[in-house]
Amino acid sequence: MCGIIGYIGERAAAPIILEGLGALEYRGYDSAGIAVLDEVGMPQLYKSAGKLSKLRSKLRNGLPDGNIGIGHTRWATHGGPTDFNAHPHTDGTGDILVVHNGILENYLELKQELVAKGCEFISQTDAECIPHLIESYMREGCSFEDAVRAAASRMEGANAVVVLSRKEPDKIISFKIGNAGGIVIGYGEDEMLLASDISALLPHVRDVAYLAVGEIATVTRDVVKYTRIDGASVKKKKARVSYEAMTATKGEYSHFMLKEIHEQPDAVLDTLRGRVQFDPPGITLPELAFTDEEIQKFNRAVIIGMGTSMHAGMVGRMWIESLAGMACEVDNSSEFRYRDAYMDENTLVISISQSGETADTLGAMEEAKLRGARQVTLCNYEGTQSTRIADAVLPIRAGLEISVAGTKTFVCSLVTLYALAGHLGVKRGLISRKRLKTIVQELAHLPEMIGQLISDQAQYERLALNYARRANFLFLGRGKNYPLAMEGALKLKEISYIHAEGYPAGEMKHGPISLIDRKMPVVALVPKDDLYEKMLGNVNEVKARRGSVIAVATEGDEHIGDKANDVIWVPQASANITPILNAIPMQLLAYYIAVERGCDVDMPRNLAKSVTVE
Ligand code: F6R
Repeated sequence: MCGIIGYIGERAAAPIILEGLGALEYRGYDSAGIAVLDEVGMPQLYKSAGKLSKLRSKLRNGLPDGNIGIGHTRWATHGGPTDFNAHPHTDGTGDILVVHNGILENYLELKQELVAKGCEFISQTDAECIPHLIESYMREGCSFEDAVRAAASRMEGANAVVVLSRKEPDKIISFKIGNAGGIVIGYGEDEMLLASDISALLPHVRDVAYLAVGEIATVTRDVVKYTRIDGASVKKKKARVSYEAMTATKGEYSHFMLKEIHEQPDAVLDTLRGRVQFDPPGITLPELAFTDEEIQKFNRAVIIGMGTSMHAGMVGRMWIESLAGMACEVDNSSEFRYRDAYMDENTLVISISQSGETADTLGAMEEAKLRGARQVTLCNYEGTQSTRIADAVLPIRAGLEISVAGTKTFVCSLVTLYALAGHLGVKRGLISRKRLKTIVQELAHLPEMIGQLISDQAQYERLALNYARRANFLFLGRGKNYPLAMEGALKLKEISYIHAEGYPAGEMKHGPISLIDRKMPVVALVPKDDLYEKMLGNVNEVKARRGSVIAVATEGDEHIGDKANDVIWVPQASANITPILNAIPMQLLAYYIAVERGCDVDMPRNLAKSVTVE
């Protein structure tokens, strides 16, 4: 939530900041703003409600001059998406400029105190307290750095902040309290950059360092000084970013979401690379830093995640149970962290967060750590916060995902979970060589099967024409496809704004069936597996009540065509692989319906790619 960036160096700051905000815009797009100090230290501040393009048009006659500046792209928490509420925020004198990501939990108390001291507030944000607070300490005689330290120690909640001062225009100060998304500092030649994540820095730097909770970085163009908020000094190691600069262009596609759907065969290949061997058959996860003895001793797994990542975990749970022979639960991170969940050193907590920054999942991971559980996390980005909490990290290797709706990160999380379950099963002696061979052979065909599913898109355009004006949708599935029904409903509602619910099909008779009439389309996941007959029964029940059925069925099924109004065909595969394949129709159906409705597919309203607040 919210993207923040800062630049200090020899080059003009504004173009670098605006380019970086482009890379960070997926984090929030309610408003954007930039502040640059000119050569005499005078701030030039521009902000605009709406997407970054609005700010760019405000600046079309010329960018502000100066070699030091900060920028922000906002996902609103306190106060609507207006020009006034856009960051950077300043104090009354205009000396201090702040960009902020997070929630200042005690802002009402601080605001009252500051108002009593004569500060005037012009926005409805919690963030505006921060420049006023810093300025009030400077007025009392503190240096810029001491004033920031004093302000940081008064703030509660999870917050990441970047600050400029007109009085000391040779530095940028940043601090982080609580898990409010990252601050990455990039080291260039005679220049330094700071940003919420690495994507904004990669065009300029390869050496980076991450600010930890409770730390302050004082950044000049050639040195970064790290201290703790209490003043103690901190030694920090730089890390070299190993992957090539990630380019975020849509290429031939009309949306990032469609591009990312198309990238799935390659992304899955990357996920499998080095982890699956064909001759002799094997699954190994070198990154899983647990000894064989530890793996034997695990008696339970708990999978945590939010939204799409949790849906991947719901499928993962069934693989862990059947392949690794472990009791497994799956929980929504925001629920898990606040219940008194039982865990001990024989519990394996598996967290899934493509961004590695989801506040709820980070909170749940911290809780699991306190309770002594061992942890592995699945993540798409190196060095992010989740990867620093877990004992072991399994990169899902989906590549950069820009569209807010998760597609390839979902599929790559599924594939990584399947490999994890297989690896644990092998280590626990539960998977015979014959079974392993079948698993591995099928995984080898997975990219090709996904490619086949993606190539047939005309049918989705036709379906979208027929169904895009419906007000509600129901998605039904059983077994490993029940989470896919949940995911299908989530994809549709988040990008098309159609109300949709995903249910285990057996639950339908216990309530949802009363919703069915001729206006209700039902997407039924009906693969040819052990639950096929049961799903057919549910399809019949919908048809008997005049609902329309879009069936997602297995190629070669000769019966489903007579029952369903429309059929989306999925290649034949085992019951383990089918849920991965079924992800593709869920994505394409939602995508084409959203396009037909004229929705902003890549940046759906009210959402953000990284949810760094609770
Ligand atoms: C929906 C979607 C979200 C995320 C959720 C968790 O398309 O992308 O539901 O899955 O916000 O995000 P991560 O995986 O970054 O923890």
